[in-house]
Amino acid sequence: GSHKPKGARGLRFTPVAPNTDDAVTVPEGYRQNVVIRWGEPILRGAPAFDPEKQSAKAQAGQFGYNCDFLALLPLRGERDRQLLVANHEYTDEVLMFRDYDADNPTREQVEIAWAAHGLAVVAVEEERRSGKLTPVTRHQLNRRLTATSEFRLTGPVAGSDLVKTSADPSGTKVRGTLNNCAGGTTPWGTTLHGEENFNQYFAHGSRATDKRYGIGTGATERKWERFDKRFDVSQEPNEVHRFGYVVELDPYDPHSTPRKHTALGRFKHEGATVRLTHDGRPVVYSGDDERFDYFYKFVGSKKMRHGNSRSAREHNLSLLDEGTLYVAELTGDSPAIEIDGTGKLPKDGEFDGGGRWIPLATATADGAVSHVEGMTAEEVFVFTRLAGDKVGATKMDRPEDIEPNPVTGKVYMALTNNSNRGKTGYAAADEANPRNSNKHGHVLELTERWNRPESTTFAWSLFLVAGDPEDPATYFAGFPKDSVSPISCPDNVAFDDHGNLWISTDGSALGSHDGLFGVATRGDRRGELKQFLTVPNGAETCGPVIQDRRVLVAVQHPGEVDGATVDRPASTWPDGPGTYVRPAVVAVWRADGRDIGV
Ligand code: FEO
Ligand code: CA
Ligand code: CA
Ligand code: CA
Repeated sequence: GSHKPKGARGLRFTPVAPNTDDAVTVPEGYRQNVVIRWGEPILRGAPAFDPEKQSAKAQAGQFGYNCDFLALLPLRGERDRQLLVANHEYTDEVLMFRDYDADNPTREQVEIAWAAHGLAVVAVEEERRSGKLTPVTRHQLNRRLTATSEFRLTGPVAGSDLVKTSADPSGTKVRGTLNNCAGGTTPWGTTLHGEENFNQYFAHGSRATDKRYGIGTGATERKWERFDKRFDVSQEPNEVHRFGYVVELDPYDPHSTPRKHTALGRFKHEGATVRLTHDGRPVVYSGDDERFDYFYKFVGSKKMRHGNSRSAREHNLSLLDEGTLYVAELTGDSPAIEIDGTGKLPKDGEFDGGGRWIPLATATADGAVSHVEGMTAEEVFVFTRLAGDKVGATKMDRPEDIEPNPVTGKVYMALTNNSNRGKTGYAAADEANPRNSNKHGHVLELTERWNRPESTTFAWSLFLVAGDPEDPATYFAGFPKDSVSPISCPDNVAFDDHGNLWISTDGSALGSHDGLFGVATRGDRRGELKQFLTVPNGAETCGPVIQDRRVLVAVQHPGEVDGATVDRPASTWPDGPGTYVRPAVVAVWRADGRDIGV
């Protein structure tokens, strides 16, 4: 029609209405394709997907399960191609194996699950004049890293007694990465991957530190400890200290060993996002996704080298090994008032205040120094949550993804929800986490002092308080609430080149499906939030990448609904009835070939 949707530049599309369709729904005038699904072969020799005859060997050459973070990187010298990097956070065995017996998984099933975890690198080809992407199978950079691939521990904890095991007395070689959730792309051309809920893979923990990290005292749900004793804390106490880090991958070198950077601390890293100081040092933000946990910043001391020489790349891969790790403390600047459904704002009319970055430990080439009384530097980097407890960091409503705005330098953090806020025995609402029983979450905007990434103080304000806009306890940066989309449980965040924030959700508590939203962060449309797509039954939306002509999302855990199995599926996306539901990556573009939202 002739109707042209209004909105900030980059967000001029007709919002998708909330729905519960078992489909990916995109705005009018937009098209989509499934780029790659769980099980599609990407390495030479890998067989076509056959879920009835799946094997660990096949899975190790195929795209993994439950794609989360995505990066699209340039492939110089290869026309119409880019390099896709994906996280495979975890496995849903009941949807992967027909007649799965959770009490008695077979060794083959467990080894398939190991091979379905980890990371994938796969070249993708663009169709001319559309945004469609298709995988280039057997490209020389295609790669799978799994729960059994070799990783290297680097930084202050490498070689420490806390990470030595019977299989690795050196304390530097780890098999596998687990539960990679969100991530980031570095200015030096590598990718970062947060190891999030690693606790769920480890059985029989009994130490206070295990408890603080959520490692259970009993068996695990997947029973991996029956097949490899390293997952049994009572038999191999230090293996669990080798997970919970930020992993760095050089996707351009298929023979490189990815690194686990211990200087960024050990916690349930949702992801990690890098920016540079004016003199070229890396600053990394990372949230610990747990109710009442903290968010962190690492300020590196080494400068990035430019250029693509071997020595520059090798130098840049060590940037995250030396620097200082900080945790955030936030204070409100007006008496804390819970927004309780009456629409009351804090006394000064805004949810805002100040904060400081509290140093925890510093890693240098000559060793590491603790800034926390009663803890060694190694302890701070391995038991980072306990260090945050000791210094009185601010307990947040599940810090998820964090992203600096490339246009303004302000930093945005998704706080997904916190059902326990205000319950007996738990912290009550405060100005930065203003709702008790916070079902819908909020988005915090942080401005470093002088807008310098390395500053040790900052100002903050709440950008969004999510929910149904008709609910008086919501806030959309002051934008009129009669013209915004409802949103619940913000999780991943990304920016487009216009400086608009894109937010994907996980676990919407509004009765409609999760999705992807765009919102302007400046100008007179600041706070105008619009839904761009929705995902199928049981799925969350992950990994958004916003390019000029294309939006890329990961549809994670479609069909993950209580009681669903292969034979009783809750979703048949993407291939329809009679097929296995499959997590997959989807590209969206404009039918008329123009840029997204202009
Ligand atoms: Fe894996 Fe915090 O989401
Ligand atoms: Ca997430
Ligand atoms: Ca992000
Ligand atoms: Ca989440």
